[in-house]
Amino acid sequence: MKINVLTLFPDMFTPLKTSMLGRGLEDGKWALNLVNFRDFTTDVHHHVDDTPYGGGAGMVLQIMPIKKALDSLPSKGKVIITAPQGRTFNEQVAQEWAKEDELTFICGHYEGFDQRIYDLADETVSIGDYVLTGGELPTMSMIDATVRLLPGILGNSASAVEESFSHGLLEYPQYTRPADFEGQKVPDVLISGNHQKIAEWRHKEALRATYLHRPDMLEARELSAEEVKMLNEIKAEEAEK
Ligand code: ADE
Repeated sequence: MKINVLTLFPDMFTPLKTSMLGRGLEDGKWALNLVNFRDFTTDVHHHVDDTPYGGGAGMVLQIMPIKKALDSLPSKGKVIITAPQGRTFNEQVAQEWAKEDELTFICGHYEGFDQRIYDLADETVSIGDYVLTGGELPTMSMIDATVRLLPGILGNSASAVEESFSHGLLEYPQYTRPADFEGQKVPDVLISGNHQKIAEWRHKEALRATYLHRPDMLEARELSAEEVKMLNEIKAEEAEK
């Protein structure tokens, strides 16, 4: 997958070149093309913004440098603007995007976009109901969530499939050595060696975590007969606590 990012601050993207994503870049599993759209200005001061028509506080990003930067790309794939008014990004969006060959993100900074810039993009996406100073951090979050789903990025390829959100349940609790830490013991079943029992326990505990922390996710999911039974047990157990 190739990812282009149009930004005024290409240096902010160092985290994507670190750790697992960085190794993926080195191995050619994905490519990152950072484009500073200030390089596409034609005025002597390299302005990318101007005062808003109609007056008011703040500055507005101009369309021209962004359009020229987009046009300079040999190909763009899906073009995404990050802004608080967009559809909310989630794991499903990451899964959709992970199927694309190419993505192009447009990051604003400090100020709003000229409305016509939105028409250059296929979609506008937000990372949540809060306002950041720029699109760089949202873009990095979305790239991380998307690229880690690509083949060969995570060391253990099973881990992307098994974890939170991928099948509509939160993750079950995990433990590692020591089996007893200051009296806090690892559940016996996990040390039992009985794989069938361990799988059942994990399924039930994933259901419990979701019931306790994100009940909205259960409403959005169809439960199997076995899960309905487990959920009834969980409700009874939790009511007793
Ligand atoms: N830019 C500023 N705030 C943002 C948000 N919440 N999501 C995406 N882009 C943004």
